Amino acid sequence: MDTDLAALDRAAGFPAGSRVWAAPGRVNLIGDHTDYNDGWCLPLAINRWTLVGGSIAPSNTDYNDGFCLPLAIDRERVVTGRPKSDGRVTVRSRQLAGEVEVAADGHDDPSRVEPPWGRFVAGVVRALAELGREPTGFDGTVTSTVPAGSGLSSSSALSVALTLAIAEAGDFDWDDLREVARAALHAEVLATGVPGGLMDQMCSLFGVADHAVLLDCRSLSITPVALPRSHAVLVVHSGIARTLAGSAYAKRRAACEAAAARIGVAALRDATIDDVADDPIARHVVTENQRVLDFVTALEADDINALGPLLLASHASLRDDYAVSTPELDLLVSLLVEHGAIGARLTGAGFGGCVVALVQRNHADDCAAKVVAAYQEHTGREAHAFAVRAVDGAGPVDPPPGPIR
Ligand code: GLA
Repeated sequence: MDTDLAALDRAAGFPAGSRVWAAPGRVNLIGDHTDYNDGWCLPLAINRWTLVGGSIAPSNTDYNDGFCLPLAIDRERVVTGRPKSDGRVTVRSRQLAGEVEVAADGHDDPSRVEPPWGRFVAGVVRALAELGREPTGFDGTVTSTVPAGSGLSSSSALSVALTLAIAEAGDFDWDDLREVARAALHAEVLATGVPGGLMDQMCSLFGVADHAVLLDCRSLSITPVALPRSHAVLVVHSGIARTLAGSAYAKRRAACEAAAARIGVAALRDATIDDVADDPIARHVVTENQRVLDFVTALEADDINALGPLLLASHASLRDDYAVSTPELDLLVSLLVEHGAIGARLTGAGFGGCVVALVQRNHADDCAAKVVAAYQEHTGREAHAFAVRAVDGAGPVDPPPGPIR
């Protein structure tokens, strides 16, 4: 670390010589509720949630492709931290209330930790302990300005970043970054009880700048797919937070597993359309997998006209067959198409959160402004619209000379 950075570290009260870890959130272009059925999805990593090992985080607004509308939120997480020798993991939050302290050997039950954001810390500590990490202490601070429940994987970005940082503080090495994804998912399941799939953690780790990533959730292979330059990826938040704990997420997953057992396949990925004709939940999974593959074929052939109908068919399937949409998400999809998007769909689990749309780049600002205004007129709610650019996945970054926050 050079002298300037050391001075910045001291100014912020962090010890010099430590590392910075960054982990992005994601927007899923197409392929929802397929990951836990061994299927395909096509997310892109967006923004960066940053972990700082004793240094100062960048503002990261340059990771956005420019907001279409001023966004009242800054979607960044920062954790400052370093190893310590008392066998405790202590993490404070600057925005959220409280401090979390758990044993570094992972014996504290993550689901009982208070305040609730600390359950992710405890989940990571336990997941790593189960993998054999030495119980080295960690002293950290989380800065969280990410809106919870936006459906942009803020929790997974945080758990991935914490997993990388706390593992390193305990000198724990990884053979394969996919193990990080599995550990982060395990941490989240321990923290929330929600039996999620691996899409969010894999995308956070393996995102590729300017590409969506085709994720095969059976082999866990990743294929970057270039995004069209002509169109912006526009995200619109409905203003309604969603939480997966207490939602029908676990129920849907159980219904998928029951359907696979009934059909006699290992996972719904292996079912045919005839197998699922009379089962709307399973039908969504089978048709959505095909839409992902068709979407990738269209992207590779630069067949922009084929993309919109696939996005709309995906939304219809999530709304009608899988039943995870809301009237607000349906309205946003209609408004986006009315105001020039070539297609739109809810993104992530549903139950609230965001929709994603493809809009001709030079028309994106106008489309976003009109949609937000019309949404307010219809619902009285404030939507937030912003264009996103795909970024690289999580990893260590150089301590930035950027602004002290
Ligand atoms: C949430 C889960 C993911 C995935 C999506 C739906 O984001 O964390 O694993 O199942 O919902 O596609």
